[in-house]
Amino acid sequence: MMPERHNLKNSITHPVFRQIGNVSDQEGVETYIIGGFVRDVLLGRKREVFDVDIVTVGSGIDLATKVAATLRPGLKVSVFKNFGTAMFRYNDIDFEFVGARRESYRQESRKPVVEDGTLEDDQKRRDFTINALAICLNDNRFGELLDPFDGIGDLENRIIKTPLAPEITFSDDPLRMLRAIRFATQLDFIIEDKTLAAIKSQCKRIEIVSKERITDEINKIMLTPSPSIGFKLLEKTGLLAIILPEVQNLKGRETRNGIGHKDNFYHTLEVLDRIAKNTDDLWLRWSALLHDIAKPLTKRFDPRLGWTFHAHNFIGEKMLPALFDRLKMPLNEKLRYVQKMVSLHMRPIVLSEEEVTDSAVRRLLFDAGDDIDDLMILCEADITSKNPDKVSRFLSNFQLVREKLKDIEERDALRSFQPPITGEIIMETFALQPCREIGIIKSAIKEAILEGEIHNNYDEAYQFMLAKGKELGLIAKQM
Ligand code: CTP
Repeated sequence: MMPERHNLKNSITHPVFRQIGNVSDQEGVETYIIGGFVRDVLLGRKREVFDVDIVTVGSGIDLATKVAATLRPGLKVSVFKNFGTAMFRYNDIDFEFVGARRESYRQESRKPVVEDGTLEDDQKRRDFTINALAICLNDNRFGELLDPFDGIGDLENRIIKTPLAPEITFSDDPLRMLRAIRFATQLDFIIEDKTLAAIKSQCKRIEIVSKERITDEINKIMLTPSPSIGFKLLEKTGLLAIILPEVQNLKGRETRNGIGHKDNFYHTLEVLDRIAKNTDDLWLRWSALLHDIAKPLTKRFDPRLGWTFHAHNFIGEKMLPALFDRLKMPLNEKLRYVQKMVSLHMRPIVLSEEEVTDSAVRRLLFDAGDDIDDLMILCEADITSKNPDKVSRFLSNFQLVREKLKDIEERDALRSFQPPITGEIIMETFALQPCREIGIIKSAIKEAILEGEIHNNYDEAYQFMLAKGKELGLIAKQM
């Protein structure tokens, strides 16, 4: 249910709003709340990041400075002269002020030509009708809603639509094509046909937008409850092929000798939606999106085996640094984490297909380390077979893998495996200089632990080292 249509004074109770209205009255300017805050009030949606956009028919910088001075002496105002904007933070809310503008962008450039304008000029140049709603803050009209483009109607009908012809709105800022898809995904709205058609016809213009802004929108899509909505729209409009060709290439199926393989694009989206139910971690979600990216590259048809995607996990892992670099995503432990998830994503499944031996579980735990729980979440999300028998068999075996993992972890503490015997101890024990034998003994100890021949503790590993040294013809120093 929408709040009362034309007056929202009961929805904007924060005292700062009254204060902004009072200062505006003193200055003789009209001032409004505009944008996402108004949209979310009308939707009854809780905002995660609390920021409020204020537009005044005058100078945004002057108004912000004057309001801040009345709130608290010394309240810091950040001024962005070039953009004619200013902001301050009060009670954990960011208030961002701008003067109403007419604005247009030159082709192939993001540099706007800006002039002062009326409120309606300003509303026109906003991205969507649902983001162009304004609430007046001046005292005699406090709470009045200004909605020249029927944003309310679009909120009620759950439609994303541009206030002007979409070609104009999108050419002003091509990032808005992605924002349309992001809002459709976040709010579960439909993009109006003409707006969608314009995204399709202008998709190539996304290339002039910075990678950081693009990635920011993709991340927001990733963090919604059903990211597949967004990725299907990205694919349909041609944006996916430009931004993430690796994911686009997953689309399609081929049949040979009557044997087909699944469409890996739709499979991936199913995995992504499934994982979204179990984690809010952005990077685990990225791992789900990218887990199969090397399938198109590694696809082969073998008349005996059917379709194979040999080593797609390892090749996928190798494709990631270039992808992260291109999208200006972090090239640090986040990348390494996604690489690890992609390279190991089949291990728990393979394990659950076979007899679940202690040593295989130990090896998995050793390779995954602290990320084992995330890997299990990914792997479970990856089980999307249409065959219910197969799914239930996998899931019950998976349960067994989980139990064994827990059991072995309690006994062997392999999650944060540190070799109980270091190279220094080996050198000291056998009076050795750096040499090949040290590596041989170290990896023999690790293997013995993983195979369950010895436990993961100092005493057993020390005895094992002495025996292995002897086998290699080394003599232990008398202690
Ligand atoms: N806006 C726009 N074009 C853009 C970015 C923003 O017209 N490319 C306008 C919209 O009116 C938008 C407002 O600026 O509502 C504020 O933008 P932003 O803070 O990015 O988004 P919100 O709409 O507030 O939504 P959210 O905070 O959920 O991202």
